[in-house]
Amino acid sequence: MILASTAAELPTREPGTRRAVVMTMGALHEGHLALVRRAREIADQVVVTIFVNPLQFNEAADLERYPRTLEADCALLEPLGVDAVFAPSVDEMYPGGSPTVTVSAGAIGGVLEGAHRPGHFDGVLTVVLKLLHLTDPDVALFGAKDAQQVIAVRAMVRDLAVPVRIEAVDTVRDPDGLALSSRNVHLSERERAEALILSRALFAAAGAARNGSAAPDVVATGRAVLAQRPPASAVRVDYLEAIDPRTAMAVEADHRGDAVIAVAARVGATRLIDNVTVTLGEKK
Ligand code: PAF
Repeated sequence: MILASTAAELPTREPGTRRAVVMTMGALHEGHLALVRRAREIADQVVVTIFVNPLQFNEAADLERYPRTLEADCALLEPLGVDAVFAPSVDEMYPGGSPTVTVSAGAIGGVLEGAHRPGHFDGVLTVVLKLLHLTDPDVALFGAKDAQQVIAVRAMVRDLAVPVRIEAVDTVRDPDGLALSSRNVHLSERERAEALILSRALFAAAGAARNGSAAPDVVATGRAVLAQRPPASAVRVDYLEAIDPRTAMAVEADHRGDAVIAVAARVGATRLIDNVTVTLGEKK
């Protein structure tokens, strides 16, 4: 496995071979490894990028305390048959400081997570586009847990005709339903137990969708579960919404077809997001 800090050090690609890239900020967990395993299945060459992107952080302190665990990350990736890890420095990615020209996520960047983290998705798209250029993959894989990120990346690729296929890989969950996230390590035992209400709300909403409920009832079902938490709960809910998987905007009441039920909450000091995809307007 090559550890490259510049794009020039990445392995060459034989003609006719397929390269997959998995972009990460490191501190890898099973969710990331599921992306890598899927990449290994579908491509001849797998490149994993590890770069803590300053452009997508709203608070300097958050960027500062983001875990940097390159050695441990490489130890997890090597046995999976990864061909190269691309771990550039900030200077390599942004020589001369923040780039003058950036990508805008447009309306997608202003709702849900974007409303809580102004500029976040512009920062994500800017680094994703640059990493796509530097690593030149046929396919790039992203975790479905970050649903709005996937929607924004797909929109960028579509709108700017970026020649890459985007594949979303299912969220990996602990057996009790909690979606894996690098942030889960910050939860106390009590907070972790309380955080389970998020996946319970999503699963209840998905059940309502399977029974043929329309979007408002699906959302109401999920919110009703969230409302059951006790007054002293550590969970402060930001939103539970049914959104369009192409635009990230709330779906109409009569929406038919796929929708993403997305939830976000602060659990103690830790902000968690999760989602499930449902099909509305079809009883199963
Ligand atoms: O999902 C992440 O870890 C980041 O947002 C990404 C896609 C690696 C861009 O920095």
